[in-house]
Amino acid sequence: MQQVDLIVHNSSQLVTCASSVVKRGLAMLDVGAIEYGAVAIADGRFVAVGVSNDILGKYSSENIVDAHEKVVVPGFVDPHTHIVYAGDRLNEFELKIKGADYLEILTSGGGIISTVRKTREASIEELVELALDRLDKMLVCGTTTCEIKTGYGLDVESELKMLSVIDELSNQHPIEIVPTLLAAHAIPPEYEDSSDAYVDLICSDILPKAWNWYENSQFCERGAPFSVDVFAEKNTYTVEQSRRIFEAASAYGFKIKAHVDQFTNLGGSRLGIEAGALSIDHLDAISDEEIGLLAKSNTVGIVIPTENFSAGKSQFANARKMIDSGCAIAISTDYNPGSAPCPSMPMAMAISCRYQKLSPNEVLNASTINPAYAVGLGEDYGSIEVGKVADALILDTKDYRALMYEFGGNMVDLIIKNGEVL
Ligand code: NIG
Ligand code: FE
Repeated sequence: MQQVDLIVHNSSQLVTCASSVVKRGLAMLDVGAIEYGAVAIADGRFVAVGVSNDILGKYSSENIVDAHEKVVVPGFVDPHTHIVYAGDRLNEFELKIKGADYLEILTSGGGIISTVRKTREASIEELVELALDRLDKMLVCGTTTCEIKTGYGLDVESELKMLSVIDELSNQHPIEIVPTLLAAHAIPPEYEDSSDAYVDLICSDILPKAWNWYENSQFCERGAPFSVDVFAEKNTYTVEQSRRIFEAASAYGFKIKAHVDQFTNLGGSRLGIEAGALSIDHLDAISDEEIGLLAKSNTVGIVIPTENFSAGKSQFANARKMIDSGCAIAISTDYNPGSAPCPSMPMAMAISCRYQKLSPNEVLNASTINPAYAVGLGEDYGSIEVGKVADALILDTKDYRALMYEFGGNMVDLIIKNGEVL
């Protein structure tokens, strides 16, 4: 008998989502479920995955968790969040109910810019406290890995402050965090009529300072990538400005992510794919031609059903067509104060099934293995496989499809992070 740190056995279904590559097209239908599955865990990683009787016959441990014929799934990976901010957007919520438009609110100095004002005023300690609370909400809903963007600083000092906050969050919180620099999230008020000058500042000053921060950070030390992101949209950044930022960032070693086609097709998806982006995100207005390019690329398409739901829209990114065309798709909450104040991946999954017409299997892969690849951590996270970091959830159900079927509650019963029961 081999001694291990933890055994979880007697699940109704152990859903592995196993894959050594990102899942695209038809492969997204396969979730790799094992009936009566079990896992053995040592040193924070899975050392064996199989049927309960086999695992109990080969491994022993002082810590044995009986799953009582409930479902075991990988911890969820949320690949797109904006959770470092101060203030709220409750007034805007009411304006939107009365019919105000997101981009109109933004151009009249509200929206993202109102959060920038509050975030610039806040101290590192205040921002850490606020964001820790948001990470807790995400964790109880099953998120064990997430990406966090800057983007409410929009000047050298405040963007670096946001990076320090992300670093501190990673020190204090069990969720595995990947940082992204989104200095090009909106046009800062000081550069309202001279956005090119702010793009110059990003390229000449913010990118090198942020890269220097990264090289001396825990993220670099453990091999997590650092990405640059741009909001390419009408009244924010043009495709040409986005291209400049991507080229300058790539020279330092940044990976690329992009907010594209959220409202308007400007050619941002094509730009992101051609730049070799890890992911292109939103994709509501992506063209058929760009879907074809995405299908042939290594870029993951991240769709954000919570944003459409939160805006009360009836149109959603056509993830069905993207998967049928052979794309690799992931979903995220986009947790942020404006367009998607939602910490819950299961909520995003429930919306995606209903409005994007994805099957539970596709949605589960889009919430685990695929987003792990979309944040550059696919080799270590996102599935229950021998050698991977042992992040898993026990769900209070016998059938994993109930995770998307039910909504508004929380069926996460037990969270295992880095091989430890939280
Ligand atoms: O992904 N599109 C821009 N950025 C965020 C919204 C951020 C905000 O409104 O504060 C998004 O929707
Ligand atoms: Fe976003």
